[in-house]
Amino acid sequence: MRTDQPKMIYLKDYQAPEYLIDETHLTFELFEDHSLVHAQLVMRRNPERAQLAQGGALPPLVLDGQLLELLSVKLADAELTPQDYQLTSDSLTVQPASESFTLDTSVKIHPETNTALEGLYKSSGMFCTQCEAEGFRKITYYLDRPDVMSKFTTTVSANKQAFPILLSNGNLIAAGPSEEEGRHWATWEDPFKKPAYLFALVAGDLWCIEDTFTTMTDRKVTLRIFVEPENVDKCQHAMDSLKKSMRWDEEVYGREYDLDIFMIVAVNDFNMGAMENKGLNIFNSSAVLARAETATDAAHQRVEAIVAHEYFHNWSGNRVTCRDWFQLSLKEGFTVFRDSGFSADMNSATVKRIQDVAYLRTHQFAEDAGPMAHAVRPDSFIEISNFYTLTVYEKGAEVVGMIHTLLGVEGFRKGTDLFFERHDGQAVTCDDFIKAMEDANGVDFTQFKRWYSQAGTPRLAVTESYDTDAKTYSLTFRQSAPTTPGQPGEQKLPFVIPVAMGLLDAEGQELPLRLQGEAPAVNTSRVLSVTEAEQTFTFVDIAEQPLPSLLRGFSAPVKLSFPYNRDQLMFLMQHDSDGFNRWDAGQQLSVQVLQDMIAQHQKGEPLVMDQRLITALHTVLSDESLDQAMVAEMLSLPGEAYLIEISEVADVDAIHAAREFARQQLADNLSDALWKRYQTNRELSKQTPYVAASEHFARRTLQNIALSYLMLTGKPEVLAAAIDQFDTADNMTERLTALAVLVNSPFDAEKAKALEVFAENFKDNALVMDQWFSVQAGSTLPGGLERVKALMQHPAFTMKNPNKVRALIGAFAGQNLINFHAADGSGYRFLANLVIELNGFNPQIASRQLAPLTRWRKYDSARQALMKAELERILASGPLSPDVYEVVSKSLA
Ligand code: TRP
Ligand code: ZN
Repeated sequence: MRTDQPKMIYLKDYQAPEYLIDETHLTFELFEDHSLVHAQLVMRRNPERAQLAQGGALPPLVLDGQLLELLSVKLADAELTPQDYQLTSDSLTVQPASESFTLDTSVKIHPETNTALEGLYKSSGMFCTQCEAEGFRKITYYLDRPDVMSKFTTTVSANKQAFPILLSNGNLIAAGPSEEEGRHWATWEDPFKKPAYLFALVAGDLWCIEDTFTTMTDRKVTLRIFVEPENVDKCQHAMDSLKKSMRWDEEVYGREYDLDIFMIVAVNDFNMGAMENKGLNIFNSSAVLARAETATDAAHQRVEAIVAHEYFHNWSGNRVTCRDWFQLSLKEGFTVFRDSGFSADMNSATVKRIQDVAYLRTHQFAEDAGPMAHAVRPDSFIEISNFYTLTVYEKGAEVVGMIHTLLGVEGFRKGTDLFFERHDGQAVTCDDFIKAMEDANGVDFTQFKRWYSQAGTPRLAVTESYDTDAKTYSLTFRQSAPTTPGQPGEQKLPFVIPVAMGLLDAEGQELPLRLQGEAPAVNTSRVLSVTEAEQTFTFVDIAEQPLPSLLRGFSAPVKLSFPYNRDQLMFLMQHDSDGFNRWDAGQQLSVQVLQDMIAQHQKGEPLVMDQRLITALHTVLSDESLDQAMVAEMLSLPGEAYLIEISEVADVDAIHAAREFARQQLADNLSDALWKRYQTNRELSKQTPYVAASEHFARRTLQNIALSYLMLTGKPEVLAAAIDQFDTADNMTERLTALAVLVNSPFDAEKAKALEVFAENFKDNALVMDQWFSVQAGSTLPGGLERVKALMQHPAFTMKNPNKVRALIGAFAGQNLINFHAADGSGYRFLANLVIELNGFNPQIASRQLAPLTRWRKYDSARQALMKAELERILASGPLSPDVYEVVSKSLA
């Protein structure tokens, strides 16, 4: 851990590297109590920098390195002595004597005690690596920055019995027994130049499933997924997802895979979802393993999406990579956009859009409004690991999506073709991406680029006016941007906001959209480009006052407001031709109804629910022609976290009370319709073997949401149905929902029994036990914190495993809001203690778990004081990692 004050790094200070590394030859000798890393780097002066220096003396070579024990250094074949180099806690500096040279280093490292899960570490007995963003410097001295791209050759040696499988990037070129008894080695060569963050190494006792993929130019690619032996029966879904991804990227983006082999390795201890290392993706086992009995539908869909995401990085990230870490969204925003498109094509596009937007609005909007708010391309950071954020990923994907909307499918494809062609093998910037889009389409995105530099969620207030005599209808848009750290709102310039929209007449028919000055219209849906702070669009030939449908498909990541009344929202719910907006109208209606009840609760009045919401949802529920997944989405009330996000001052108790009251009302009033749909779908589930496909997901989702509502009625037949579903389901989707409804119910004996049976059946499956922890951590019944504390003592729990921390602590602080925000501050104290503990051994996870406390400004003054005090206590708790230091100090600033 660093003890010196962490320092801020700025985008404006970017300079190209002084030296380049053409070839990287690595040798790893893995042992139980240490490992040795020998690196031979074939280097030369960066001509670009030499030109700038105009023949001056050669600059020193400063290599990154952390937690390395230096054993030897050779420069141009001459052994250096300590007088010849400078060593600090994060660098090694030598003075080259010529433009081209080789540098040889040997270091000793300790993967066996690496708990930060960055660099080379051990997970469940196997060796694995995580180098993004700056983990490679914990493996060897290097120019650990993405604009230094090198050809890697890697030799790994280890005990043959314990580590029969030895993997690295690229192709296996040689292998054999070592001279030393019981050991063996393998050499891998990656023909593609890559930055160090894409390096990977794996050594372990692994089994694999294998398949092949024939590319569009008829090349055969070997596909292997490596897992611990007991998990080979849970890889097929990931393999199917991989093949679908490879085909989709050829069909939709014209991108072909480039090596002869593609490998995925599942590891149990992993800080994030997965990592796109060239030819050797390393995955959190939760993002690979899925089969009916142990993984829910949501888990299956997550596996499919993450496999696709990492595979797509082969082009958007690896072949074309980032110049520096400020450009992270160049690869992440774009790749999320690509994986969303893939998931939309594999499943229901509307449902995928609804889920993405609900997530963005709840979590990214909250980030954008909090102390860590930053632009899609940040301009400074202390610790880059803190910037793998919802803003860089999800908002970054929305920004790419707006480009897609503005250019259309074909224009966008022309842009990506040019981008890949122009920059293949290069490390580039977000500006280069935009430039390719502009050049391929002959457009000017100068103003659009503000999305990359201005932080915060823009507001877009819309008003209308109808002129009966002229038969014109006008929409006026007023945009504004909030103040975010370092960026006053009033200094922000207008964004380009694509607003997809339509107009509905009194029958719900879509009107042709003709703007003043345009030729007669045929289209009934179009995209308005809002580019000014205030701008009016006037439609002509509008025979009657229409109802606007705005921001269809959520065409821009903004907070749009239009003064709809509840009847208008109900009308849109039924008639809007845009599925996303039908859902959104329902959400807006629900928000209005819930906000009434939140106000009633605050005034101490009895809660009364607007019956129109019940009527509207009854209509949806009874319409058997609707996609069942859509019905399920419409039936889901906005979450508490979203209601908090849209509050001025969030009253957690009132929000919880209002939402629970609404759920109870819906359950009581819709119970017949819910029961009918539940029974039909449950019967089908009983008759159909599990299939991980869209219409099956839809059926089970509706079945399960119906069950969750029905359980609130407390009827004995519902309890019996839940128990039956728990006991007899052949899949985790039904079983886990049954468990969850029991856990959240007042039926203590049934609950205890189900929890016990579940734990007994699945005690050997860590990922299933994560779900068992999560269901309990999320239960909003009183006493939540005590239950979580007790679960931390469970033998299956360990703080050292990030999935466990997320399953128990993350679920409690992120989803169990009524308990986490207990008025006595006990939830805050608990979380702060854990962050302090985690900071000592896994800074990345510590910093991520801290997020809920950073939102303290959202709450009432008593809670604010409690949360702030905990942040201050963390700050004073001793030497902090740069990760935690950055988040805590910015939160208190
Ligand atoms: N590039 C990874 C992705 O696909 C992100 C990632 C994986 C990561 N592991 C990490 C980032 C560890 C930081 C630290 O999104
Ligand atoms: Zn990614």
